[in-house]
Amino acid sequence: MKAVIPAAGLGTRMLPLTKAQPKEMLPVARKPTIQYIIEEAYEAGIREILIITGKHKRAIEDHFDRYEHDVRNGELEKLDRILEEMTIYYVRQKRPKGLGDAILHARAFADGEPFTLLLGDTITQPACIKEAIELHEKTGKSVVSLEKVPSEKVSLYGIVRIENGRITELVEKPSPEKAPSQWAILGRYVLTPDLFDYIKEVEPDRKGEIQLTDALQLMVEDGKEVLPHFFSGRRYDIGNFLDWLRANVELALEDPMLGEDFRRIIEEALKDVR
Ligand code: UTP
Repeated sequence: MKAVIPAAGLGTRMLPLTKAQPKEMLPVARKPTIQYIIEEAYEAGIREILIITGKHKRAIEDHFDRYEHDVRNGELEKLDRILEEMTIYYVRQKRPKGLGDAILHARAFADGEPFTLLLGDTITQPACIKEAIELHEKTGKSVVSLEKVPSEKVSLYGIVRIENGRITELVEKPSPEKAPSQWAILGRYVLTPDLFDYIKEVEPDRKGEIQLTDALQLMVEDGKEVLPHFFSGRRYDIGNFLDWLRANVELALEDPMLGEDFRRIIEEALKDVR
């Protein structure tokens, strides 16, 4: 299976951090965000990736070139081994007209086959996409990974209705009163290629963006089965400051090289800093 990673958004919620560097390159513990995603895809057996980039995103391509200096560093060597086996393609979205529009750039790459979609600003722990692929392989259907969020947070995400084991409605950023559930779309999908035709039918939203959630809504309205994958791990949305900070703290605490010392630093900071 191939993977598509959209990484062409402006990242305006993370300004000024994202003024001159892509949101997908923001560091989390010892790696840039998008490296976690490449590793997640690799561990799920994916060997061909298309990254959708855009203006000011050159750093992503540079990061996935081989490092030519003789430096010993575990993470660097692990990445080099992965890159040895992977082919990464790039295509530019000329203007950030929404996630749906970004995905349209992957049509030729998908070549009529189902593909996985991993958002370039979302880290999952443990890796989520493998389970979603397994569900797709059993059923042949599109799969959307979900996490349960508190009702005060539904307005930040795409929220779904689930009936008889299927997704029957998808709403982008609903108010808590209008939300069909507390199950939020988390940024990992397996999509069948008929999706591209539905994206073409989507009307731009108030901001002029084409939303993937709206294309999936058209798909289910048309009677196509879209299956929920209930993810029970952690998801970090690197597109907002608090989640990015939480990802840094939690993943640094779990890092075998940094964890022990970092725990001490956090404990001291909690005592000393007011
Ligand atoms: P977001 O909506 O979270 O990203 O898209 P954004 O538009 O960069 O964020 P803000 O609202 O301005 O802060 C989720 C993923 O989809 C990609 C983003 O790069 C991110 O990885 N994306 C979004 C695109 O590739 N193209 C787009 O037009 C929009």
